[in-house]
Amino acid sequence: MRGVRVLLTGGTGFVGSHLAEQMCARGADVRCLVRAAGGPARHALPEAAARIEGSLEDSAALARACEGAEVVMHLAGAVKERRPGDFVRVNVEGTRRLCEAAAATRGLRAFVHVSSLAACGPSAADRPRGEDDPPAPVSAYGRSKLEAEGCVRASGLPWVIARPPAVYGPRDRDLLAVFKCVARGFDLRVGPAARTVSLVHAGDLAAGLIASAGAAPRSTYFICDPSPYPWEEVVAAMASALGTRPRPLRVPRWVLLPAAMLSRLRGTITGRPSIFNRDKVREIAHAHWTCSGARAARELGFAPARTLREGIAQTAAWYREQGWL
Ligand SMILES: NC(=O)c1ccc[n+]([C@@H]2O[C@H](COP(=O)([O-])OP(=O)(O)OC[C@H]3O[C@@H](n4cnc5c(N)ncnc54)[C@H](OP(=O)(O)O)[C@@H]3O)[C@@H](O)[C@H]2O)c1
Repeated sequence: MRGVRVLLTGGTGFVGSHLAEQMCARGADVRCLVRAAGGPARHALPEAAARIEGSLEDSAALARACEGAEVVMHLAGAVKERRPGDFVRVNVEGTRRLCEAAAATRGLRAFVHVSSLAACGPSAADRPRGEDDPPAPVSAYGRSKLEAEGCVRASGLPWVIARPPAVYGPRDRDLLAVFKCVARGFDLRVGPAARTVSLVHAGDLAAGLIASAGAAPRSTYFICDPSPYPWEEVVAAMASALGTRPRPLRVPRWVLLPAAMLSRLRGTITGRPSIFNRDKVREIAHAHWTCSGARAARELGFAPARTLREGIAQTAAWYREQGWL
């Protein structure tokens, strides 16, 4: 990475902030696309990273941002809708626009596109998803991520698609809600009783994305911990980190939709949309969200630097330091 000219989109986001830090620490020449009026929860960029003002809606800014880039790391995206249509506007049309700008860039070696397990959909109970399984997204978010993959595949660029499952780690606000419940002594059980999930820590994902930039073009990888976790194991890791003994509290399925609507209303009033919405309820209805990291391990040499317990403990400590817990 030393001296490599990288354009990073989404550097002010949760995952992007970890990637920006790691690339700068490895001596990359990082330039970040930054919106003039960003979202309410944006994170600071490392001092060493240059900023180019613009958004995925602005083709001229994207052309300026891509100029001279050897690698594009495309993380910017809508993970929740602030306004109806955001998923398509940002994830699909924004990605298409960035691909067009990147295609006009001389010397581009890699275009790493961060997609999601949501683009593929849930897995079977006994078999994590593989990269070549036919995708079947169940949410509007997932469908938009799949359509964005289509734009990237059709672009003619030297693309690599990285699909993380749920990402956790310092600065994440989505799994924070679960940490908060466990800290208060509850193990909130929503949806199907037996759940399994794949996870990846944001720091490990950042390392996997950097490795992806050196992969053979036209490759697709799940970047995740080697084995999926039963949900109980995730809660047990949180409980051990927080020193609580949470009591299971089953939430009936009929509560989810009204709760999601209330959560959306609250998000509209506060200007801070919650990850818990109707689209999320469609995902929660499925018990297994697992994927296989075997290809990334084999071809990228990807191996997480921490166990789930270590990652959860470090995340809980960070939340406490920041007063988030
Ligand atoms: N977090 C997860 O669990 C997870 C799992 C799988 C895949 N992913 C994927 O990973 C990527 C990053 O997710 P995240 O969790 O880090 O999301 P995040 O914290 O919400 O960050 C999103 C980033 O995208 C930027 N952005 C949004 N709309 C934009 C636009 N129109 N033009 C330019 N920039 C825009 C945001 O900029 P502002 O700061 O200005 O708002 C922010 O930097 C996304 O592509 C997501 O689909 C995330």
